[in-house]
Amino acid sequence: MSFKPLRKAVLPVAGLGTRFLPATKSMPKEMLTVVDRPLIQYAVDEARAAGIEQFCMVTGRGKTALIDHFDVSYELEATLKARSKLEALEALEALRLQPGAITTVRQQEPLGLGHAIWCARTFIGDDPFAILLPDDLVLSKTPCMQQLADAYKETEGSVVAVVEVPPDQTNKYGILKTGSDDGRLVEVTGLVEKPKPADAPSNLSIIGRYVLLPEVLGYLTKMERGAGNEVQLTDAMAKMIGHSPFHGLRFEGERFDCGDKIGFLEAQIAFSLERPDLADDVRAFLKKYISEIA
Ligand code: UTP
Repeated sequence: MSFKPLRKAVLPVAGLGTRFLPATKSMPKEMLTVVDRPLIQYAVDEARAAGIEQFCMVTGRGKTALIDHFDVSYELEATLKARSKLEALEALEALRLQPGAITTVRQQEPLGLGHAIWCARTFIGDDPFAILLPDDLVLSKTPCMQQLADAYKETEGSVVAVVEVPPDQTNKYGILKTGSDDGRLVEVTGLVEKPKPADAPSNLSIIGRYVLLPEVLGYLTKMERGAGNEVQLTDAMAKMIGHSPFHGLRFEGERFDCGDKIGFLEAQIAFSLERPDLADDVRAFLKKYISEIA
């Protein structure tokens, strides 16, 4: 296959978000806010910074707030203008995508991440594509997706962002079997979804950032069920190995699992400490709480 630039991203947002009930009873998990931006916006901004121009959200029932978030809100904008609330207006304008740049498809039943990606097959077509799971946030100097896009250019194959996890927790993650390793890029020779620690081929885990070649769709079409009786993306990716280059990227930055309460709380603190308008106040209240605990 000749090299094609990365221009498309799929954002799977059809999960039920059960770990955040009751917050997610009538609001999508991806609208949970870290500091003052919903998770979905961090994902879209990160992808745009990597040159991605076309987006497909794979949604489910009760997810319309996510679509509205990227829509123009004429009434609100007119009111802000009339009241000269220019900073607030700018925050809304920064959100705006090119007309037609975002599309949605429905995953009628949450049958797994692999199934969600397959639902976006018409959007993907024959192009390489990024996947960003909005509940994974990465704090880094260079946006994580930019780092992956660079690695894609370098290897001309699929690349997934990876982190080391505690060896006794491999049963929570998609885990790599590794070949050659230069400390940054690691060749993937196998992939296993949620292996027991005793069966895990390494402790390198995939996080919610991927660049995949479109060939993965051919394997997803078979709809084979894996761990948890779901159609696992990891299983379809495993079948690509040996047919095209496949690497893990130890990215620069820190990942926060915002689908989990502790990860979400940590992200609030870490991201607010990065904000010049908030950092001093946050530091002051953290000191207060720490002195009370000590
Ligand atoms: P999670 O494993 O975090 O599941 O999905 P979840 O349903 O969102 O949350 P919990 O575990 O019930 O709290 C990882 C990503 O895959 C998407 C989710 O929206 C999330 O971005 N996903 C998962 C789908 O789009 N469809 C699915 O069938 C499963």
